[in-house]
Amino acid sequence: MTTPREVRVIGIGTGSPTHVTGQAIAALRECDVFLVADKGEAKDELVAVRRLICAEFLEGGTYRIVTVTDPERGPDAERDKAAYRTGVDAWHAARADRYAEIIESLSPGETVGFLVWGDPAFYDSTIRIVDAVARRLPLRTQVVAGLSAIQVLAAEHGIVLNGIGQPVHITTGRRLLDEWSPRLGTVVVMLDGALKCRELVERAPDLTIHWGAYLGLPQQVLRAGRLADVIEDIVAVRAQLREQHGWVMDTYALTAPSPGDAENPSVAVLVGDDRE
Ligand SMILES: C[S@@+](CC[C@H](N)C(=O)[O-])C[C@H]1O[C@@H](n2cnc3c(N)ncnc32)[C@H](O)[C@@H]1O
Repeated sequence: MTTPREVRVIGIGTGSPTHVTGQAIAALRECDVFLVADKGEAKDELVAVRRLICAEFLEGGTYRIVTVTDPERGPDAERDKAAYRTGVDAWHAARADRYAEIIESLSPGETVGFLVWGDPAFYDSTIRIVDAVARRLPLRTQVVAGLSAIQVLAAEHGIVLNGIGQPVHITTGRRLLDEWSPRLGTVVVMLDGALKCRELVERAPDLTIHWGAYLGLPQQVLRAGRLADVIEDIVAVRAQLREQHGWVMDTYALTAPSPGDAENPSVAVLVGDDRE
């Protein structure tokens, strides 16, 4: 039987070398080859950050970085839900084929590393792709958690995401308008190139927004305030940053005004392990 190829899926945080955990450093040191998706010119900086992290933590080590050109993804924004899902599935299969081919070409015994932006558990397809590769050839995979943009957003603003005993809902810009309700608790929005929360202003002007772009990177920008008061500034700043850097990644949290403990029965009935 063929010995399974060792694979490490390593969360590296959102760009600052200080986000890389001790567990991630140990996993980095086990890798011989890092496969890094090349998503095109605008995101070259994200590949550069991965190179920097390797250089910083693997000084003097013998490792290789192989950039893998991403297959064409197609026009997501123009697709309906079904077409979007089919498009993503086809894209994942094409990526898995490409990675399987590269991994098969490596020397026996070489350990493969995937450097995942943020945490591999949030809106990242690496684990799914590695699972798909494992259906093509034997792999033994270890996943290492990283700091997500969600955690960095909360920390940089110095906030707790959930109200006491209340939920946190994580979603995408694409789904926000259909899903939003005060019952969701704090709503964290990722992958929103259009700041869809602007369209919530009429329904919920008193939401508080905590917004962050390039979290953890030197060009980090933060804004916070009442949605109706600050959204136009955020829209303008985001457009200007995108123009300046050629790309922008931002995340935000929307919080409804606190109803107050007396009007909030879910707080009053908290017992035992549910108590914060
Ligand atoms: C493909 S998802 C990856 C999420 C990542 N796995 C994580 O845990 O943060 C990309 C989205 O994550 C958010 N994001 C990632 N890095 C960010 C950063 N440095 N600053 C702000 N948002 C970021 C943005 O919402 C972006 O659209």
